[in-house]
Amino acid sequence: MRHPAGEPITGRHIGGATSHFRAATARAEDGGPPGFASSSKSKPMKMFPLFTDLKQRPVLVVGGGEVAARKVASLLAAGALVTVGAPRLGRSLARLAGDRRIRHAAGEYREDWLDGAWLVIAATADRTVNSTVARDAARRRLFANVVDDAELSSFHVPAIIDRSPVVIAISSGGVAPMLARRLRERLETLLDPGLGALARLLERHRARIRERLPALDARRRWYDALFDGTISAYLRAGQSLRAETVLEAALQAPAAPGLGSVALVGAGPGDPGLLTLKALRALNQADVILHDRLVSADVLALARRDAEFIEVGKTGGGHSTSQDAIHAAMLAHARAGRRVVRLKGGDPFVFGRGGEELEFLHAHAIPCEVVPGITAALACAAYAGVPLTHREHAQSVRFITAHCRDSLDTLDWRALAQERQTLAVYMGVGDLAGLRDNLLAHGRAASTPFALVENGSRPGQRVVTGTLAQLPERANGHKVRSPALLILGEVAALAERLHWHGAPPLGAPPPATVPLRHAA
Ligand SMILES: C[S@@+](CC[C@H](N)C(=O)[O-])C[C@H]1O[C@@H](n2cnc3c(N)ncnc32)[C@H](O)[C@@H]1O
Repeated sequence: MRHPAGEPITGRHIGGATSHFRAATARAEDGGPPGFASSSKSKPMKMFPLFTDLKQRPVLVVGGGEVAARKVASLLAAGALVTVGAPRLGRSLARLAGDRRIRHAAGEYREDWLDGAWLVIAATADRTVNSTVARDAARRRLFANVVDDAELSSFHVPAIIDRSPVVIAISSGGVAPMLARRLRERLETLLDPGLGALARLLERHRARIRERLPALDARRRWYDALFDGTISAYLRAGQSLRAETVLEAALQAPAAPGLGSVALVGAGPGDPGLLTLKALRALNQADVILHDRLVSADVLALARRDAEFIEVGKTGGGHSTSQDAIHAAMLAHARAGRRVVRLKGGDPFVFGRGGEELEFLHAHAIPCEVVPGITAALACAAYAGVPLTHREHAQSVRFITAHCRDSLDTLDWRALAQERQTLAVYMGVGDLAGLRDNLLAHGRAASTPFALVENGSRPGQRVVTGTLAQLPERANGHKVRSPALLILGEVAALAERLHWHGAPPLGAPPPATVPLRHAA
């Protein structure tokens, strides 16, 4: 059937071929029709969930504004032949009508617009018109949705998560649409974006899979192993050929235990809200989580409950795991077919030895991926109200580490002491005096402001401010402990005025004053 889109219509039919919908039978409003016993024993389901095929089927939308336009967009995505009935069309709908993607029935609502429609949506701002549409539709046994009026609607448009061909629909039966929206948001974060590609891949190989694994049980186990393996990671990364290879291999040797995988995942600085969606997904799929000591308990609480959690902290007093032992643990678990998450504070590739771990995994042919995290410098700066760059005062930012005398000796102090740049110093609390002395010796002004951020982004965050000259004394005075990140440079002065998270900065305002209006 072709959509006769284009010319505005004022007359009778909107879809010609389906005008057999003309039978006008009133809906049974007072309980079920005669001859049907009511099913009062079971808990009533408010709405019956249904997915409809609207491809090439006429649908009427009454209303020409933005609300109608949103409905039209999803109807077009489903392939419906959309007619919009309204005296005038808003900008986006007028554009669609101009491109002949919808048809415009111009004028005030008329009942014969319903002729031939499979569904109708009333989206005008006029309640009387909307209820007339709903009533006319009911008489014709046509399903009608009245926007924002659950009672007048005989079908609801659910909140959806679209991973086509997989689509998840959520309805609160019109009772709490905001709750449905919130649920949708939560589910969006949990569902792999590669889900649709996976469904399409399986559809292509469905017959072969059935042939290879005729027994339902064996097929189920095979699917589980496939879903738990690396195929999703490849599809997510757009590597469909590699995904296809994984599927082929699994089909060739269906009984062989799959090789596990390792994801090097950045856990961010502590606030669980700073986890990426990808990190959250990896945590939810993990069998084993090898985590640093710095990873916050709040982040770990988001991981799959029955995963095995192993702390592999390398610093701090007491328990410590060597890098070799971490490599060996990743390898052993992956070879046993488990999905391993190597969870690191901040970002795995910023002072996190993630590079070495990836090299090791490559050398041992373990399937792996890297999920970046928000590194401490970015998070601490943001949560302390310190823009790392500033159009007038800092044109560059350097991330450095200075955790022992040796590492201090290897730094290029002349470059680091330059003005108009920001230093973000990781692991620096151990030798703040050495840091200060080197910077002063190479020409950095004693009055350069600093902000030392302890437990950045976490509930116990503290920010100590001062000048370079005062740095070690101030830090000692406030007993700053690891994890703490030092931000040194003109921009640090802004912490006094721009702080927003936790307690105000500790310490007298540094002398340098940076105007707010040009903050980059
Ligand atoms: C071994 S490094 C790891 C850095 C991590 N890979 C990242 O990207 O943030 C550890 C150092 O990061 C800094 N750090 C990490 N989390 C922090 C936090 N929540 N607040 C302040 N500093 C933090 C501290 O300087 C700490 O000593």
